[in-house]
Amino acid sequence: MDRDRAAWWQSAVIYQIYPRSFQDSNGDGVGDLAGILRRLDYLAWLGIDAIWLSPIYPSPMADFGYDVADFTGIDPLFGSLADFDALVAAAHERGIKVILDYVPNHSSDRHPWFQEARRSRRAAKRDWYIWRDPGPDGGPPNNWLSEFGGPSWTFDPGTGQYYLHSYLKQQPDLNWRNPALKAAMEDVLRFWLDRGVDGFRLDALHHVVKDELFRDNPANPNFRPGMAPHHLLERLYTVDRPEVHEVIADLRRIVDGYGERVLIGEVHLPLPRLMGYYGVGGQGLQLPFNFSLLKAGWTPASLRPLIAAYEAALPAGAWPNWVLGNHDSPRVASRLGPSLARLAALLLLTLRGTPTVYYGDELGMTDVAIPPDQVQDPFEKNVPGLGLGRDPGRTPMRWSAKPEAGFTTGAPWLPIGGNLAACNVEAEAADPGSMLALYRRLIALRKEQPALTLGSYCGIDTDPRCLGFRREAAGDHLLVLLNFSDDTCPVPFAGRLLLSTDPAREKIDILGPAEGVILRLA
Ligand code: NOJ
Repeated sequence: MDRDRAAWWQSAVIYQIYPRSFQDSNGDGVGDLAGILRRLDYLAWLGIDAIWLSPIYPSPMADFGYDVADFTGIDPLFGSLADFDALVAAAHERGIKVILDYVPNHSSDRHPWFQEARRSRRAAKRDWYIWRDPGPDGGPPNNWLSEFGGPSWTFDPGTGQYYLHSYLKQQPDLNWRNPALKAAMEDVLRFWLDRGVDGFRLDALHHVVKDELFRDNPANPNFRPGMAPHHLLERLYTVDRPEVHEVIADLRRIVDGYGERVLIGEVHLPLPRLMGYYGVGGQGLQLPFNFSLLKAGWTPASLRPLIAAYEAALPAGAWPNWVLGNHDSPRVASRLGPSLARLAALLLLTLRGTPTVYYGDELGMTDVAIPPDQVQDPFEKNVPGLGLGRDPGRTPMRWSAKPEAGFTTGAPWLPIGGNLAACNVEAEAADPGSMLALYRRLIALRKEQPALTLGSYCGIDTDPRCLGFRREAAGDHLLVLLNFSDDTCPVPFAGRLLLSTDPAREKIDILGPAEGVILRLA
């Protein structure tokens, strides 16, 4: 892939900000847009190219912003439209793109559209949501289940019908089969594109269109205790309906009208179906999120085929991407432990495709245990005891060892957690052996080396304790070798060391336990 022909989002490193938790500027314990603006220089120093902001729209915060009460406003908790414009301008001045979260599947139940829709069966916007009569027994119209526990139908006593919600009952699903709703949601995209936004992360995209006949989902034979309750059923009629691709193609047409903008999709589906979201002739999403590393076993034996299968499944011309952490998952440093988390950083930033870094993972932040009386996440409250709550991975960014980690001068909305003296930006920026220093070196090297940014990928046979692959561009061959074991491992390749996860490494005849390296092959 030629650097001149590549789009910005192909060579970019994307950084996800969970706005509530990044930087508070007014002491209310919740992060805000002015706080993010204040930290842009840090992000520029780190070398990232784009920020994706989880929702910042007016919201009752039943699902912390994923319940949107106005798609074209800013919640006062986060600031104002003027703050948003200032943030975009300041980011662009630093060469940083801004990607917004777009939530097409549902709104808040407090959205004026829903308020209007529930007024009567004949309300003008009634059909902007999905309503059904009760089933024959007076219960829900079918067996569909909410991702957050319980039925995905809630009875509306005022109008005697049920409305559909794939998530919380405070998040009624929008009806994309209604042309007026579709047009209104498309205007939302235009509103933000006109304000200079560089792209969107599309929330819960596989949910957007449902079965027109409302057929029952079949039982899931692979359900196991401990899984979230909605997995009791196979989501045959509730996700990945064929018509979703028409919706996406229309969104893509709009975005393409604004030049080089990007659509990234949150789509949780098996690989072959995920690939369909690139669209026919590449007219779908540029980047359907690849979440495979979030659930992967961290051994060469499981990662090797996982990477090979993903690379092999990509349609012609499709650009890969990799995700190591996000606001819905346990922190990578907790999933893997500190040593393997360093290897994971190296893997994320050397694989072929656009990487997304979740805020704080560059510090090695771990999950923070949340005392029961401080739980915020509605998922945890609805289905307690399964360890599904997302608060532990959403705790405040740690800027310094000061009280409340320099995140707020007030009481943070989630606890800061332990190990603050060592795990914070200030301390880690001063320590060449830190996780932050590793991320920064990796991002810089990735930028410098066309083979890493846009080059080809080829897995290689290595010692079974290791994972190895080559990246190549214009005759320049780089080798990435990761030792997942607790033993040392010989390096049977001659080359020059460009980077090691071990800052003290000078020679490369041998890899230490859990060490990863990047070499330029002789
Ligand atoms: C996926 C988002 O990532 C998650 O945080 C949210 O709760 C659901 N979609 C509902 O919008």
